[in-house]
Amino acid sequence: MAVVAVTKERHPGETRVALTPDAAKKLIGQGLSVVVETGAGLGASIPDAEYQAAGATIAPDAKAALAGADLVLMVRAPDAEQAAAMKSGAMLAATLNPYQNREALDALAKAGATAFAMEFVPRITRAQVMDVLSSQANLAGYRAVIEAAEAYGRALPMMMTAAGTVAAAKVFIMGVGVAGLQAIATARRLGAVVTATDVRPATKEQVESLGAKFLAVEDEEFKNAQTEGGYAKEMSAEYQAKQAALVSSHIAKQDIVITTALIPGRPAPKLVSAEQVASMKPGSVIVDLAVEQGGNVVGSRLGEVADVSGVKILGIPNLPGRIAADASALYARNLFAFAGLLIDKEGQLAPDFEDEILKAALVTRGGEIVHPALKAA
Ligand code: NAI
Repeated sequence: MAVVAVTKERHPGETRVALTPDAAKKLIGQGLSVVVETGAGLGASIPDAEYQAAGATIAPDAKAALAGADLVLMVRAPDAEQAAAMKSGAMLAATLNPYQNREALDALAKAGATAFAMEFVPRITRAQVMDVLSSQANLAGYRAVIEAAEAYGRALPMMMTAAGTVAAAKVFIMGVGVAGLQAIATARRLGAVVTATDVRPATKEQVESLGAKFLAVEDEEFKNAQTEGGYAKEMSAEYQAKQAALVSSHIAKQDIVITTALIPGRPAPKLVSAEQVASMKPGSVIVDLAVEQGGNVVGSRLGEVADVSGVKILGIPNLPGRIAADASALYARNLFAFAGLLIDKEGQLAPDFEDEILKAALVTRGGEIVHPALKAA
């Protein structure tokens, strides 16, 4: 019987947990045994007792949890001590941040782990249920609006009262992927007047179907800005200048700007300049969701609220961690689905390394970094 281990996350401020009692129960139902490090679920409001009730065993520390584990489930990469505590040949599924956390990959290779980076799961139909980027970005988009509403000293919806009318807030979403779409939907539910922009033409219809208005330079380059994989391309300096000119007068009239723009494997594009920040009214709020990838906004700082002449720029890290219970539940369902590719009917680990999902996500095996995109680096 294969053993699955879940540890308490060690990354500062990480509140999520990789497995919920519900998902643990399902794994146990498939013939596996589950060991959970004590306190692993506390950040997501899950006490040890709930794991025990689901049939899992509680281990006193990470070392004890990892020692006998065949499959380790984590939110973030293990630290060096955790990696070393894994037995050689053990499998790991986690968001490893592979392009920016070489150290963890080296430690995992050294430990002889067979590690899968969940970020590399391809976005094909069969893998949608395993898509941690989507499940977490969706919640991040929701949470960004909540954080903005909290930092904004006015209301989002229009209110007509005997004492006068409160105007609806104007919210501008820059970057309409999974996070941006949820941010639009959330801001609309709160009654804001919402506009949005993106470089991928496909987003125009999505924005409009959510009841928001689309704003972008729709030239030839824009018409070709989407890759085969559905991601954005890096835009030319010329396009960026045209787009900046178009959005400048718009940003000056906004109360809240939420930026979510990313380009896979590249630093986040700078979409809001210092001048544009300065053009906003005091009391306005900007939330930079890309702050961990270098930021979309000039002046945003990771983990800080920058105050630029009364305009607050929120650089909150790990927004999904601020909605830890739901983020953990969705993440755990993603991992449970992924684990299905690793386990056979008897609850033994029997991965088919030729499966295109496993092939794409595999980063270390047999003591080496094996992913083609990472090997050269
Ligand atoms: P992402 O997190 O890589 O980027 C966020 C957004 O920023 C994207 O919409 C991108 O076009 C935009 N962006 C990049 N540069 C920009 C710029 N200079 N100005 C304005 N916006 C800019 O994107 P995410 O959320 O991962 O989604 C990417 C695509 O993948 C979407 O089309 C999404 O619908 C699709 N997708 C497909 C899935 C599937 O088929 N299984 C699952 C999830 C997403």
